[in-house]
Amino acid sequence: MSYSSQNRPVRKAVFPVAGLGTRFLPASKSVPKEMLTVVDMPVIQYAVNEAREAGIEHFVFVTGRNKGVIEDYFDVQPELRATLKARNKADMLEVLADSQPEAGRTSFTRQQEPLGLGHAVWCARDIVGDEPFALLLPDMVMKSDKCGCLNSLMNVYNETGGNLIAVEECDPEEVSNYGVIKKGAEVAGGFEIQGMVEKPKKEDAPSNLFINGRYILQPEIFGLLENQETGAGGEIQLTDAMLRLSETQPFHGCKFDGLSFDCGSREGFIAANVAFALDREDTGPVVRKIIQDMLGQ
Ligand code: G1P
Repeated sequence: MSYSSQNRPVRKAVFPVAGLGTRFLPASKSVPKEMLTVVDMPVIQYAVNEAREAGIEHFVFVTGRNKGVIEDYFDVQPELRATLKARNKADMLEVLADSQPEAGRTSFTRQQEPLGLGHAVWCARDIVGDEPFALLLPDMVMKSDKCGCLNSLMNVYNETGGNLIAVEECDPEEVSNYGVIKKGAEVAGGFEIQGMVEKPKKEDAPSNLFINGRYILQPEIFGLLENQETGAGGEIQLTDAMLRLSETQPFHGCKFDGLSFDCGSREGFIAANVAFALDREDTGPVVRKIIQDMLGQ
C-alpha cells in the first residue's frame, strides 16, 4: 500500500476519560480528574483545544461511571448565559463560547469495564467508523510556543500518511512508566518506528523515547484491538496492537518540540499549574512574585 493511498483526512478525535484518578482522591470521588483545573480551565479543555487547533471536527469521549459531568461541561448553560448577558459580562460570555464545541460535534460512549487503554480506544470503534482518527490522552497537557502537538503531527501526517505517534525523551529511570519506541530511519519531519514496547524494564527499553499520548491511527487498529491479548499490567494495551499494525502499515514517530505535563500525577498537575500561570499575561506577574517571595528570592 502506498503512503498516499492512506493519507485520508483526520476529522475525529478520541479522548479516553474513563480512568478512576485514584491519585487525586479524595477530590476524584466526585470530580473526574479531567475536570480539575490547570489555572482556570479543566484539564480536558486543553486537549479539546489542541484538537480544534489541529482541525478536528468531532470529539469522541470514552467515559465511565461518575464522569457525566464531562458531558454536562460541553453542553450550553442557557441560565448562566442569560445571567452573564444581563450583567454585561462580555468577556465571560466569550470564555464560555470558546470552550464549547458546536452542537452535534461531540459523542460520548462508556468503557464499562477498566480493561486498559486499548480497550477504551476499541470502545470508540462504531463512532469513529472506517476513517483515520486522532487520539489524545487528556492527562498529558501539552505546552508549546509554536504549533500544538497534534497540529505538528498533522503536518507530518500530510507527508507520510499511515500511522503516527508523538514521542519525547525521558529520564532512562522512568521508561517503565510509558510506552517506549525504537527509532528507525528519518523521513519527512519524523522517523520510522522499528519497535515499541509498553512499560519496559529499564534494561529492556529500546530507547528513552516515550509515547507522549498523541496519536494518528488508521481504523484497522480496531480489528487488532478486538482480539488483542492482555499485556503489561494485565491490561489490553494499545501499544501491543500498534506494534502489530506497524507490521502491515506505515508507522512513524515525530518528536514533540514542547513541554508535556502528566496531569494524571500530582507533581505533573502542580507543575502544569505553575507553568501555565507563569506564562499567562493576566496571572504571570503576580504568580511570579508569589513564588519568588515563597522561595525567598
Ligand atoms: C499510556 C500509554 C503509554 C503512554 C502513556 C503516556 O499509559 O499506554 O504508552 O506512554 O499513556 O502518558 P498510561 O499512562 O495510561 O499508563
